[in-house]
Formats: sequence, C-alpha cells, structure tokens
Amino acid sequence: MSVAPSRSQSKITTSFIQEKKLNHQQITSLTAYDYASARLVDDAGIDVILVGDSLAQVMLGYDNTLPVTMEEMLHHTRAVSRGAKRALIVADMPFSSYIDCKEALRNAARFIKDAGAEAVKVEGGEKRAHMISKIVDAEIPVMGHIGLTPQSVHAMGGYKVQGKSLAAIEQLMRDAKALERAGAFSVVLEGIPREVAAMITEELKIPTIGIGAGPNCDGQILVFHDLLGLSFGSPAKFVRRYADLNSVIAQALTAYKNDIESGGYPSDAESYHLPKDTAAGLEVVATRKRGMRKSNDLTM
Ligand code: KIV
Repeated sequence: MSVAPSRSQSKITTSFIQEKKLNHQQITSLTAYDYASARLVDDAGIDVILVGDSLAQVMLGYDNTLPVTMEEMLHHTRAVSRGAKRALIVADMPFSSYIDCKEALRNAARFIKDAGAEAVKVEGGEKRAHMISKIVDAEIPVMGHIGLTPQSVHAMGGYKVQGKSLAAIEQLMRDAKALERAGAFSVVLEGIPREVAAMITEELKIPTIGIGAGPNCDGQILVFHDLLGLSFGSPAKFVRRYADLNSVIAQALTAYKNDIESGGYPSDAESYHLPKDTAAGLEVVATRKRGMRKSNDLTM
C-alpha cells in the first residue's frame, strides 16, 4: 500500500521521511535538475527530489562533479522548486561551498532562502560532523552522504567501491554515527557492499538512502538520466534502466529532420490560415497584380 500523500495533502517533510523508517516503508528518491524533470518526478509520487551536483555531468557535460558552482546549483534548484509541489527538495552543496563552517552556513542558507530548497546534502562523515551540526542549529535540515563520495574522486584515486576492509567498515560506521549525532535527518550510502549498508541501516535511527549500496537500506536514490536511459556511456552496475529515452529521442529527431527535408512537415493542418473574407480579398489583389503584369509585358 502506498503511503505517499496525494497532491491535496501537505508537502513531504523530513519527519515524514523519518517516520517511513519507523514504519518499515521504503523511501523513494530521485534526482531532478529543472522544472520539467521536477514535475515528472513529483507527479510520479517520489518522496525526495535531490538537486544533485551530478548535474555537473548529466546536464553540463563536465567529467566529474567538481566544477559546478553555487550559482549554477542555485539556478537549477530554483527551477526544481517551481516544478515540485509535493516532494521534499534537497539541494546538494557543491564542491568547495563548505570549505569552512562560515561558508557552509552561508551557502546552505542561500539554498533555502533564495532557491526554495527544504534541506541540503553534504558529502563526508566524521570530518564534516561539526559543520553539519552548525547548519542544523541554523534550522536547516541536512542529509549526509558517505561511502563513495564523488567530490572526493581525486582523494579516493577514482570512483571505487568503499568499505571493503574491516578498518574501512569501522570508519564508515563511525562516519554514519557522527552524522546522526550531528543531527542529519538521513544519510546517503553510496558505492559500498550491501552487507555494510545493511549493518549501518540497522545501527542508525535515521534513515539510510542507498545508491549502489544494495537492497537493505531504508530507501533508494538514482540519477534521473541513468534511470531513463538519457545518459551517455556505460552505466554503473547498480543502475537499472527503466527506459531507453536516448533512442526514443534519437528516432524522433531523425524523423523530424527527414520530414522537413522531404517537405512532409509542416502539413496544411499544421499551418495557420487566413479568415475566408481576407483570403478572398487577397485573391482579388493577386488577380489584379497578375493582370497588370500581363499588360505591361504586352506593351514592352
Ligand atoms: O549528485 C547526486 O546525484 C548524488 C546522488 C547520486 C546521491 O549525490
């Protein structure tokens, strides 16, 4: 049975997300980056929309998430907040926007005040806990993110599954608990073995949302473009493609091009027409012009 509030019910809140864990109901989450994708995700009844910094790659064409700026993130978050009326909107703090507590607070507040986000997401565990508690103290809900944190791509030496040794598992558990203590309302677990995600989920009171972390989390998240087959290159192991929109779009674009080139687009039915009396008047003028041209030809 679905517990998602209908459009007429109130917006999804962080407490609603936390209650889902208590009620053993899976939290649904997906990224969105603009008005159209936010409307589609919202209408599908997804609980949480993350305006992920993955937009650096899937929307802006960068190789990784590092170059996306606060201004770009704010621009996309504003568009999402115009499209989503029901889902909880979480904005991703981009790389270097939380370099210290002061910057973190200032930028987190901008997402809420200037862009309509209702929470922010911060990558990192124990090391970020003091910062997260400051943001939470400023009444801004925070979603944590540990495991394979894409903003640490250079520090990690690539996109590698994390938490494979006993020491790494212990660190992940410390990270998760530090985030909970700091007041995060939930935590994304990315790119870790399913057994480790299951242990963390069991241990925490706040919900875990998995991506590449197996089925035993309190919810799941994917990137909009990956799920719909709108991204390029081969998808990660955990991505399930529910559609192949790249080929649907490619077919439509080729058909459009062919129709223009063959004269098949636009048809008469796709054209505007003059009112009947204006058309008749225009015909009289055209006939008169033709007549004048003919008599000019004869006199030459
Ligand atoms: O930026 C993003 O899209 C993310 C999710 C995939 C968790 O951080």
